[in-house]
Amino acid sequence: MASAATAAVFGFVGVAHAADNKEIQMLHWWTSGGEAAALNVLKQDLAKEGYTWKDVPVAGGGGEAAMTTLKAMVAAGNPPTASQILGYFALDYAEAGKLGDVSSIAAKEHWADVVPKALQKFTTTNGKWDAVPVNIHSVNWVWINKAVMEKIGGTEPKSFDDFVALLGKAKAAGVIPLALGGQPWQEATMFDSVVASTGGIEFYKKAFVDLDESALKSATMKQAFDNLAKLKEFVDPNFAGRDWNLATAMVIKGDALVQVMGDWAKGEFGAAKKVAGSDFLCYRFPGTDGSVIYNTDMFALFNVSADRKAAQLALADATMSISFQSAFNVVKGSVPARMDVPDTAFDACGKKGIADVKSANAKGSFVGSMAQNYAQPPAVAGAYHDVVTKFFHGEIKTSDAAVTELVKAINNAK
Ligand code: BGC
Repeated sequence: MASAATAAVFGFVGVAHAADNKEIQMLHWWTSGGEAAALNVLKQDLAKEGYTWKDVPVAGGGGEAAMTTLKAMVAAGNPPTASQILGYFALDYAEAGKLGDVSSIAAKEHWADVVPKALQKFTTTNGKWDAVPVNIHSVNWVWINKAVMEKIGGTEPKSFDDFVALLGKAKAAGVIPLALGGQPWQEATMFDSVVASTGGIEFYKKAFVDLDESALKSATMKQAFDNLAKLKEFVDPNFAGRDWNLATAMVIKGDALVQVMGDWAKGEFGAAKKVAGSDFLCYRFPGTDGSVIYNTDMFALFNVSADRKAAQLALADATMSISFQSAFNVVKGSVPARMDVPDTAFDACGKKGIADVKSANAKGSFVGSMAQNYAQPPAVAGAYHDVVTKFFHGEIKTSDAAVTELVKAINNAK
């Protein structure tokens, strides 16, 4: 199907010929087991169409290191065919005129009708498609080892207090309650959920999307920091600096009860051949069910030389095909970025993810992740990471000081 559509596009832009460069150079940070397995789905689809793959992997969850490499490549006038990218990072490249244009194929395949409008803010510039959404991840999930849950006699936590009680049960049973990777982006990603749970999704929007100062320094935000501090009581002594996928592995092996993480964690369970519902449980972060705090992986499509454009179009086309969106996201742990992909191939968590996106999108509780650059530009998101991590590691000592620092850091970054 993808190749037929690509051929149709070549009809408009000129037939692919021998001078076309068949190489697709892709920058990304998908280096864990689950991530690499998902990326393989794309590599294989494109290999079938005769394209070769030049991998530019830059390890580091959350993509901070990858974004530094990308910046250097673009500044040197040597952009990749495409790069994995999040939210406002793409808008910066678009504003700087660094992105290409795949609108011809977008129009032909009616992407505007099937991709949520909220995402199109990041994939288009003045109506022109310059990035393609690969998936919809969301950060407000918890991942639980089912055998450990049964051993401690735990039940689904419905509120933040329930969650703390559940973690307490694990601690009493001698199990590490909370598997955390103590890196700024992971702590901030967890704090997104804590804020939405503490204040509700409207509060989250007011604080992080509107940057309303009264919300940022409110008693509710202080309470969110106090709640974050409660979670610190349940991590193991070696949490600082740990990679996210190693924290997931602790839950997979039953060394820890739960990880709070985006649904890329499910990709790791899948890679370890663990099954949703029998080996592990997924719940929305307690107190956030009904809301989806999203981060979508996009491929930013750079302005490349004429001989590389056919390969770029093929990549965009393959990425947006219904069959790919299903196959890739089953492995990645995320849900499709197109709303017309059947949920048949997905496990119970994936089916819930798909249904949640649809209902949250309809009722206005589909909101961008602050930690993952979908609520604010990188400078503001970076300021947020900084304050959250300083608080979590004790450099900022009280929730009072934390909200003061948050307002200050955000104002300086704006
Ligand atoms: C990306 C995911 C990725 C995760 C960990 C997030 O920012 O959106 O695709 O799996 O980082 O590397």
